[in-house]
Amino acid sequence: TKTYLTGIQTSGMPHLGNYYGAIRPALAAAESNDSLYFLADYHSLNSVKDPAKLREDIRSVAATWLACGLDPQRTVLYRQSAIPEVFELTTILSTVTAKGLMNRAHAYKAARDRNEAAGSTELDAGINMGLFNYPLLMAADILVMETDVVPVGRDQAQHIEYTVDIAQAFNHLYGEHYSFPIPEGAYPEGTGSVLPGVDGRKMSKSYDNHIPLFMPENELKKLIRRIPTDSTPVEEPKDPDTSVPFQLLSYFAAAERTREVRKRLEAGGMGWGELKNELFEEINTRFGPMRERYDELMAPGSELDQILEAGAQRARRRAAATLAKVRRAIGID
Ligand code: TYM
Repeated sequence: TKTYLTGIQTSGMPHLGNYYGAIRPALAAAESNDSLYFLADYHSLNSVKDPAKLREDIRSVAATWLACGLDPQRTVLYRQSAIPEVFELTTILSTVTAKGLMNRAHAYKAARDRNEAAGSTELDAGINMGLFNYPLLMAADILVMETDVVPVGRDQAQHIEYTVDIAQAFNHLYGEHYSFPIPEGAYPEGTGSVLPGVDGRKMSKSYDNHIPLFMPENELKKLIRRIPTDSTPVEEPKDPDTSVPFQLLSYFAAAERTREVRKRLEAGGMGWGELKNELFEEINTRFGPMRERYDELMAPGSELDQILEAGAQRARRRAAATLAKVRRAIGID
């Protein structure tokens, strides 16, 4: 068996993209492998600066994992912030990581490009070190658990490559004493394996185009109804491949159902309104039962907190064992 690890930032309720890209594949892998799934609360500190909201978001991501079917006996579920070894390892890894590598990180480069486009002369304006160091902290998350496989969406591919680079740099220097296993990313298959948001771009909280997994039924219905579509009349043929509701449907409906809807759209006679009802039904049927479980877990006094506490203890034992080896390898023991 291999060790699987993945994390989700605690910056609001997870959305359909998180489910499709990470949660569902990770839970499938957990059935036959060692698995450690965690809440990346220090990563989200870059964007969430409101302590009450952060506390709520941490519970929300934990409740989501559990409501989606994570078995806390089988999978270690924990908060990143409960594992001090992660931060110690971040410091150690920073000494084998080229700054030039970090300069090329997508999120950092995108922030600089925005400054350039805005005509700013200081390209690093408004960019904090938390954003710059983000990939390094993520490498530590992965390496501290001696991870083999990281199930993530395609948008995380560069972070996985960086983790490999950093692990190799460490192994090159200290491999005689200790080597990290080299992890690999596992990405969802299929065309456009990045789930689109309501505006057709990648579904993302930062674009505000996301569909939260467990939003109340009536809000979900409204949100889906507001997805922009063109004004092709009901009876006219429509192109499913340029339609966001259709693309979303194809992720969640059975293949046969998707083929039927495609045919009806192409033939004419199916309106966008009907397509959206179809999409709502698919999402609501699939996530309705999980939403109930989610609400129970979010209630104060639920078993959530004990589960995280127990997970933290197990995760820490493992992290401490890695750090003991790493410290010995580098000569700080
Ligand atoms: P985060 O919190 O942005 O997203 C969590 C997971 O959801 C996936 N994802 C998507 N997949 C498909 N389509 C989409 N539209 C979509 N949007 C998000 C992401 O790829 C991710 O797998 N850096 C990570 C958190 C992290 C982490 C780690 C992950 C921190 N340390 C260590 C793995 C291992 C992030 O920001 O994910």
